[in-house]
Amino acid sequence: MKTLTAEQINEIRSSVDIVDIVSKYIPLTKKGKNYFGVCPFHEDSDPSLSVSPDKQIFSCFSCHTTGNVFTFIKEYEHISFIEAVKMVAATAGINIDIDTTNKKTIKNQDIYKIYEIGQKFYLNNINTQFGKQAKEYLYKRGINDELIKEFEIGLAIKNSKALSNLLSKKDFKEKDLIDSGLIVKDEHGFHDFFYDRIMFPLHDINNKVIGYSGRIYDNSDAPKYINSKEHVLFKKGEFIYNYAKAKNDCRMKNTVIIMEGFMDVIRAYSVGVTNVVATLGTAFTKEHANLIRRLASNVIICFDGDSAGAKATMACSDILLNFKIIPKVVRLEDNLDPDEYVLKYGKDKFLDKINNPISVMDFKLNYLKNNKDMTQTVDKAKYATEVIEQLNKIEDDVLKEVTLKKLAQETDLDVEFLKNKLDKKFSKEVIKPKKVVKTNKYKLAELGLLYYMLRSGEVIKMFDNRTVYFPTKEYRLLAHEISYFYKNNSYINEADFLSDLDESMIKVVGEVEELDLKEEYTPDLIIDYINAIEEKNIDDEINRLTKLLIEETDEIKKAEIGQKIVNLKVRGERNVG
Ligand code: UTP
Ligand code: MN
Repeated sequence: MKTLTAEQINEIRSSVDIVDIVSKYIPLTKKGKNYFGVCPFHEDSDPSLSVSPDKQIFSCFSCHTTGNVFTFIKEYEHISFIEAVKMVAATAGINIDIDTTNKKTIKNQDIYKIYEIGQKFYLNNINTQFGKQAKEYLYKRGINDELIKEFEIGLAIKNSKALSNLLSKKDFKEKDLIDSGLIVKDEHGFHDFFYDRIMFPLHDINNKVIGYSGRIYDNSDAPKYINSKEHVLFKKGEFIYNYAKAKNDCRMKNTVIIMEGFMDVIRAYSVGVTNVVATLGTAFTKEHANLIRRLASNVIICFDGDSAGAKATMACSDILLNFKIIPKVVRLEDNLDPDEYVLKYGKDKFLDKINNPISVMDFKLNYLKNNKDMTQTVDKAKYATEVIEQLNKIEDDVLKEVTLKKLAQETDLDVEFLKNKLDKKFSKEVIKPKKVVKTNKYKLAELGLLYYMLRSGEVIKMFDNRTVYFPTKEYRLLAHEISYFYKNNSYINEADFLSDLDESMIKVVGEVEELDLKEEYTPDLIIDYINAIEEKNIDDEINRLTKLLIEETDEIKKAEIGQKIVNLKVRGERNVG
């Protein structure tokens, strides 16, 4: 396997501008020297992510994620460092020929392999004589061969040993086979988890199969769908169907449509709606929201048309609102799910629905009016209270105002009266960047020295010459990393330096960057830092010796320790003076 040299990696890095790349993912606005956007690495709606064109790094002052262009893509796309390098190279038109096996996933490699084998097996089955009935079923539902291929639909045959036999001949550990959820072990030995079902593969965000949903295709009264058990790579509360396939279309259209079931997704796809994903009928979670907002800033919820779907839409929109995403909503008539809707009313009517979603507040107003008799005073009052409660969940002033007006009309209540019922907590309070308060002068000195070491070879030389010992371990490690980088490369450049670092060290750089000091320094400032650090070391040592002195019983040794303390104190005073 070929690997890239540090020079090659740096060359790729310097051939692109981090601002260009990051702004492909999140909108950035220029403020002073830097660009700012909403950080995609934690729950937020404030622009706490800064991107520096000078330094070619990004840094979030809220969650402290820091890095260069590779780190950004790695974190955002959930890929390995080398895959990120490859992506950036492609953007820059640089062709690199390397194997980009995702290092992070190596420890779960065997589960992926088990699924690869399973997938080949199931895919093959559906095209054999055993797959005839399953295909008939799919055809009857309007799922043609093209869609079967596109969504890699397969078949678990009526033989509970078929896959087990195949897999046990390979070199897998029993634990991995069982963890994968494809194989079960009981008193009769191994057998297959899925039996006689149409197999819909579930792909992770990197498009690797990590699970299945298996559907019955006869009229048996077995559960309609059986899903893979959760395992290290598959968590239902974090799983989104069709994520990898829809990713580009969602980003291009800046809109993502969420549905409940994968059948709905497949149907939507078949009529050209490709920016669509599903949550597999489970409750929508924060983790789902976090993935969804990476796809697009406009979100449309298109759940089933029944009352359960309406209820789920309420819950889903509240979670999205917590992420400051104001979704739109599509409601389908006759209790239909999107799949059934397309089949009953056709493509055009469905597209019309999707292209004309309603605002989340209009949806909520309708929802809350359900089961209420608006001619009754009591119901009207209850309705007003419930709408106010919902309004308190949104921050968008305009949407609030518009909804309030509507509510006033519907209830014959005064707008000002209603407004007074709203929580005041969102009232235009400017949220300041959460700067960490560093009261400790020694810590400041350590961070300050690191800050300038990251920028100047001269400062690194001062560090080396004075053999500064950083009292804080991770700062010490970082200082040595910087010094080492400088020795090897004869220059220091933060963006290149970050390519070499592991995650824990990158976090420390993030902490240093938070200082946001001036770019220029004077040698005096550096000397002040170094002296403060030495003062701290002396203090620590004096404290240590003082403790020893108290515990020591031997008079001679006591005197020795005392002398040492005196010497240190003299040194300390010289330093300060
Ligand atoms: P639905 O019951 O709405 O399924 O469940 P569907 O999409 O309409 O499926 P068809 O049209 O009957 O084939 C929505 C999602 O909930 C999960 C599945 O992931 C499904 O896509 N589900 C449903 C289960 O996991 N188990 C079940 O028994 C039912
Ligand atoms: Mn359905």
